[in-house]
Amino acid sequence: MDVLETRIDTRSAEYQANRAAMLALVADLRAELERAHTDRSPKAQARHKEQGKLTVEERLEALLDPDAPFLEVAPLAAKDMYDGRVHGAGSLAGIGRVSGREVLVLANDARIKGGTIYPLGVKKTLRCQAIALENRLPMLNLVDSGGAFLPLQSELFPDLDDGGRVFYNQAQLSKLGVPQITCVMGLCTAGAAYMPAMSDHAIHVAGTGAIFLGGPPLVRAATGEEVTAEELGGARLHCAESGVSDYYAEDDAHALAIARDLVALLPPVERARIPTRPPAPPLYPADEIYGLVPRALSTPYDVRELLARLLDGSQFHEFKRDYGPTLVCGWGYLHGMQVGLLGNNGVLFSESSLKAAQFIQLCDRDGVPLVFLQNINGYIIGREYERGGITKDGHKMVNAVATAGVPKLTVIVGASFGAGNYGMCGRAYSPRFLWMWPNARIGVMGPDQAASVLVSVKNEQQAREGLPPMTPEEVAAIQEPIQEAARREGSAYHSTANLWDDGILDPARTRDVLALGLSAALNAPLRSAPWGYGVFRM
Ligand code: COA
Repeated sequence: MDVLETRIDTRSAEYQANRAAMLALVADLRAELERAHTDRSPKAQARHKEQGKLTVEERLEALLDPDAPFLEVAPLAAKDMYDGRVHGAGSLAGIGRVSGREVLVLANDARIKGGTIYPLGVKKTLRCQAIALENRLPMLNLVDSGGAFLPLQSELFPDLDDGGRVFYNQAQLSKLGVPQITCVMGLCTAGAAYMPAMSDHAIHVAGTGAIFLGGPPLVRAATGEEVTAEELGGARLHCAESGVSDYYAEDDAHALAIARDLVALLPPVERARIPTRPPAPPLYPADEIYGLVPRALSTPYDVRELLARLLDGSQFHEFKRDYGPTLVCGWGYLHGMQVGLLGNNGVLFSESSLKAAQFIQLCDRDGVPLVFLQNINGYIIGREYERGGITKDGHKMVNAVATAGVPKLTVIVGASFGAGNYGMCGRAYSPRFLWMWPNARIGVMGPDQAASVLVSVKNEQQAREGLPPMTPEEVAAIQEPIQEAARREGSAYHSTANLWDDGILDPARTRDVLALGLSAALNAPLRSAPWGYGVFRM
């Protein structure tokens, strides 16, 4: 394999300016993550402690194997939404190791509005279940939640992708043999009672854990019966009398120890086999990525410079180097695991699309996972390219991306616009994981393009109606709101708040995070579908 050689001059003013700009973005990201993990009201913290509960972080520490990596999922979900303090959409989730086994953990944070579930909390739960399903990861739920956040109940209850779907998915996971273990560490009221009930194993903490379809206030109102939460749905009742729960735990630490034991008892996983070789670090330091990425997304740079800082030994076997050069395709290794990589070096032309479709088929047939490094403004436009069938060729790429059955992982490292998002395996193309860099931007098109399309549509309308073209003031009145919205809604933070991705990454962590995602993916059979494609339009 060729060793990628860098052309980056780390002493240049350009490199230094890029580095400073990216470091500022990374510092903001760290501050946001810190705030999401620590910003809790003193009242809620005190109430939590008073009940003798461990915090979410302490629960995870007790549950997970020490010194094993933890890959958090969607830590900034719901950022700046609701009252601005529903951090992580009210839960902490991620992939870690328990008793040596990779698992997915989802834990409500009762210090955020009693752990109640907001609409984006439902979305995060569904995303976690999708990760568990696609990667066949045992799922551990640490439930401590007031159930639906009632003021927004209409937004999270009955639809296909609302709260009810969580329990539907639990049944499907169980049927497909994905183990589910639930620790009842707080209330499981009404629908939430089904979280432990639908699991394979339910561990119930005495004193704080309670499961009931209607809580004490509802029972009082409906029947006049006076009962405490413990009497109505506590651990003793459910472990000894109703049989709703399987294991009685004295406290949080005991429950988590039982959960560890249960994971240790699971049948061993047959990991998918992909080509491997002994891991080796890249030849260049990861933090040089900060300086090689231009400050403006419109400034091109060679994605091979990024590959040189991601791949083992900076080695890359490039496919069709001179054909369709705006897309770089080839093979390399990440922490010893072979992958096929696709990275943008400009807009997508017919040739680059055809190359991608061919490369994806090769990797898919040979059982090599795919990694997409997305930095794309879209497919080329204009009469010449339409005549050349760019849509037809783009379709082949999109078709291949959609139907490839090997694990796909995507990192949006810059622009993610238009159909380029689809061709480069955006969220709708079901990559097993998708992350964004903090400088990344996403949308149908950029702010200026969107504004100019709307202005020209309006001017054509005026002309049809025999009216003069718009004045500069009228143009500005159309342009400014759409530009503002596209700017705001195109940011990585808006994306991650809405769970369009699995988190924003410090670019220097990309190699390690990709390897963790890949390792998680290998818990499932290699292909999610048999090898084969739809009809390619020729
Ligand atoms: N919807 C909206 N807000 C809720 C809520 C719900 N279901 N449950 C609790 N909250 C809010 C409280 O109003 C309070 O808000 P504040 O901090 O702004 O005052 C916050 O969450 C914490 O609640 P609090 O009761 O003070 O804390 P706690 O630790 O003593 O008890 C619960 C937490 C969840 C056990 C308790 O609030 C409760 O029983 N909630 C209702 C549960 C229920 O019946 N849910 C049915 C929904 S399907």
